[in-house]
Amino acid sequence: MPAAKKKPAPLHPAIAEVLLPDTQIKRRVKSLAREIKAVYGDQEFTIISLINGAVMFTSDLMREIDNPVRLDCIRVSSYGTKTKSIGTPQIIHSLTLDIKKRHVLLIDDILDTGKTLKLVGELVRKLKPASLRTCVLLDKKARREVDLEADFVGFEIPDKFVVGYGLDFAERYRNLRGIGVLRPDKQTAGAWATG
Ligand code: IMP
Ligand code: MG
Repeated sequence: MPAAKKKPAPLHPAIAEVLLPDTQIKRRVKSLAREIKAVYGDQEFTIISLINGAVMFTSDLMREIDNPVRLDCIRVSSYGTKTKSIGTPQIIHSLTLDIKKRHVLLIDDILDTGKTLKLVGELVRKLKPASLRTCVLLDKKARREVDLEADFVGFEIPDKFVVGYGLDFAERYRNLRGIGVLRPDKQTAGAWATG
């Protein structure tokens, strides 16, 4: 008899469904690093991480890569306490490194409407890098509003609001080891405080 598929351990009481347990994320981060290595060879490149969401992913991914790498971060305005992106994202804190004639890998946690990566991609391109590639852990293809695909994608996920492993709702849940769908009753301002 085939073994029943083991249900992933619960992440947190506010999580309705575990989408990606930490073991699965770890495996995929390693294989993504191999895909990236296959493209860059031994070349040096500059990682630009979009904070805060991409911190965990960036830190795990870059430790799987043995190329010489430089790291910089860009902070883009977030959702606040909403679960849908509204309006135009804004760059709140930009680069400090010079990326002219450098190979750049832009890393984000999730590609949703695509507005954030488009905005940051335009900024980076103006600084004349030698090349620009993009890497996202999650891709919510169903919600795309701009014509943009990432060069490296960890997982394609359904159109559900997810948290954990760097992804937040109103700055909460970033510290969960895995990624899960937030319970609908927790998707309102203040809901994290009520247990
Ligand atoms: P986009 O500009 O619509 O592509 O949105 C990208 C940004 O929205 C990401 O960097 C995330 O910070 C945030 N985001 C999109 N979907 C989710 C989600 O399901 N959970 C948490 N944050 C999300
Ligand atoms: Mg983000």
